[in-house]
Amino acid sequence: MVKNLNKTKKDKSLNIDSPLHVTGRTKYVDDIPELSGTLFAKVFYSSIAHGKITRLDISKAAAMEGVVKVVTCEDIPGENQVGGIIADEPLLADGLVDFIGQPIVMILATEEIIARKALKLIEVKFKPLKVIVDPREAHKKGSLLSDPRHFQMGDIKKAFKKAKYIFEGEADSGGQEHVYLEPQGAYAIPKNNDCIQVISSTQGPTAVQRTIARALGVSMNEIEVDVNRIGGGFGGKEDQASMWATFCALGTYLTKKPVKYILDRHEDLQMTGKRHPYRSDYKIGLDKDLKIVAFEGNYFQNGGAAADLSPAVLERTLFHATNSYYVPNVDVNAYPCRTNLHPHTAFRGFGGPQGMFVIECAIHHAARALGVPANKIQEKNLLINNNEFSYGQKVQDCEAKNTWNQAKKKFDFAKLKKEVAAYNKANKYSKKGIAFMPICFGISFTNTMMNNARALVHVYSDGSVGISTGAVEMGQGVSSKMIQVAALCFGLKTDEVRLETTNTTRVANTSPTAASATADLNGKALQDACDQILVRLRKLVKKEWGLKSKDQIHFQDGWVICNRKKMKWNELILTAFQQRVNLSAKGHYSTPKIHFDKKIGKGHPFAYHVFGTSIFTCTVDCIRGTYDFDKVQLIHDFGTSMNKLVDLGQIEGGLVQGMGWMTIENLLYDEEGRLKSNSLANYKIPDIHYVPKKLDVEYLDTKGSDLAILKSKAVGEPPLMYGIGAYFALYNAVLAYNKDANIPYESPMTTEKILMGLYSKKANS
Ligand code: MTE
Ligand code: HPA
Ligand code: MOS
Repeated sequence: MVKNLNKTKKDKSLNIDSPLHVTGRTKYVDDIPELSGTLFAKVFYSSIAHGKITRLDISKAAAMEGVVKVVTCEDIPGENQVGGIIADEPLLADGLVDFIGQPIVMILATEEIIARKALKLIEVKFKPLKVIVDPREAHKKGSLLSDPRHFQMGDIKKAFKKAKYIFEGEADSGGQEHVYLEPQGAYAIPKNNDCIQVISSTQGPTAVQRTIARALGVSMNEIEVDVNRIGGGFGGKEDQASMWATFCALGTYLTKKPVKYILDRHEDLQMTGKRHPYRSDYKIGLDKDLKIVAFEGNYFQNGGAAADLSPAVLERTLFHATNSYYVPNVDVNAYPCRTNLHPHTAFRGFGGPQGMFVIECAIHHAARALGVPANKIQEKNLLINNNEFSYGQKVQDCEAKNTWNQAKKKFDFAKLKKEVAAYNKANKYSKKGIAFMPICFGISFTNTMMNNARALVHVYSDGSVGISTGAVEMGQGVSSKMIQVAALCFGLKTDEVRLETTNTTRVANTSPTAASATADLNGKALQDACDQILVRLRKLVKKEWGLKSKDQIHFQDGWVICNRKKMKWNELILTAFQQRVNLSAKGHYSTPKIHFDKKIGKGHPFAYHVFGTSIFTCTVDCIRGTYDFDKVQLIHDFGTSMNKLVDLGQIEGGLVQGMGWMTIENLLYDEEGRLKSNSLANYKIPDIHYVPKKLDVEYLDTKGSDLAILKSKAVGEPPLMYGIGAYFALYNAVLAYNKDANIPYESPMTTEKILMGLYSKKANS
């Protein structure tokens, strides 16, 4: 069954953030009233991409009035290290710099403007070293961040020998700046007994806590990290928030004063990593019926100067190398290349989009060469239940074909195709293009260990409820979902449940809010905590009412009901309190059934997969190279959505963010490793005018997975990958104008590339 989410009647969905956002009452780190004595930090960073520091003179800056301390790597009491997966990233440079934007010195001053001015008084000299910005070059020189990875299945050699058609080529995808509305930042406050509380704009409170403890040489229990909510993260604050929080905590440690550091946009663009640009090779083999019989891929990930999350991102590229297709013989290799750029990091999709782009290019290449539409090859190769991925997991509850067929039917593809053909025939200098983009995305952290969460629930003696989880709200609506879960468990209204900040003293050892799994993991931990309290309450009700069994007791609409007896929730809670029943509980959840052996690259890493199919239609102005997206129509597998409003927002936002990555977001570096697109004036993200004129999101009502919270499937990252369809729709429109167009597979498809493509000559082959 398909439902139109746009037309969903007013249901019980809520987004508790919306009223606060639209009235400007949402509190971010910079909105916290400053304590008296607060110092402001600024970082002096490297202006060259690779070199030795031959001279560093901080004396003039240190002597400036209002400057309290100038901090160098020598002042760090613990380890000078912020690397998460691999310890290869200093907090402050120690004699060597590896990228432009690398912190060298921290200034602490009584006012932000003073700290900013003092930056100019730092004197530094470098002896430049060779700069590498290209991952293929890094790979050639053996400059890797960690070991290459390899997944394989079947017999690729044999399969290519038997294949009727073989196509090979290169496909590169560009990086992407997160442009979270709230820049990176933190505020550290000294507490009793030398403990430090850090309010951080992070997706990973525990990562922040661990990183600070290591840099200060203290125990984790001396550091409390608190997150109210963050103004977007998109992966950029999964690991990279730790550095700024560590600077603040270090400042507090050294001065015993509160220290605040909120990056301005320019600093943030310059110093923090982005989505990894990739360069890749593909080789695809098809049989006479257009079945893909073999796929080989080599992925050169531009990791930047330190590992950060690159090894994990790299792995997900391999997991998604064959997207929604069944390919029996696969051989994919990935290389985490070390270059002299800021360390690149998580970004919605986490390497998956980069992998999926490559096989879509391979299919497009094959289709073009064989003179068939790409969607014909795509359709013939969609996954079905029990098909095996290269990593050993078999697909269950597969909706690849279902979403595809529904999309074709619902959006009347036959008619659309005819309309586009007629339009292209009738118009010489305006051409339309269509592209299908199916998605299949695995849900779970690929590192099995991370798939666990905890929650703390208090029922106060007046019956009101307070909940804490490890989830961070960053606009994706997880707060609303957590409140819904608790309200549903206790049979209360959502406004009777209050969600506390995410705090490491209440919920410890959290995995970051990432991998789209936050609501699943934390929601299930929350259910566990609520259930524990309900067990105690049921026992009490049984005793109070002299019942034979607890089975018939229900909690509903603020009442406790059993057969014809009922009692108000508040009364029951007061009784429980008076009878000394424990009204608090700590819940825990760890995803069952998942496992993965990294050495052999086989296992069952994902709790489940999310599927969907999108159709893009665009019109290109063949004189100017400009274009419009007429419409994007898609069928998405939500399971049974627990919050349609929030989930629709995730689809729309993710889709448009993915389209931006594929088309207008052009992240450019020069040969010296200098970011050219270093401001929002020369790096453009989609705005409301960019959004397709028509955007249909249809809801595939499936039974969902038991491993999804309330069978409502994870929705945060998957829709980004629909955006890849934008690239091919534009490509196809260009081909409608110039069938011999020579356009390398290289995203983003900027208007310049479209224009060049429109008037390009056939490649010599
Ligand atoms: N939506 C908004 N509005 N802001 C964000 O920063 N991050 C995305 C996605 N949706 C993000 C967002 C990313 S990268 C992930 S992994 C998921 O949300 C994380 O949240 P979830 O696990 O609750 O889906
Ligand atoms: N997704 C997102 N973030 C992560 C993952 C993942 O699979 N693994 C580690 N951090
Ligand atoms: Mo999302 S890239 O897993 O934070």
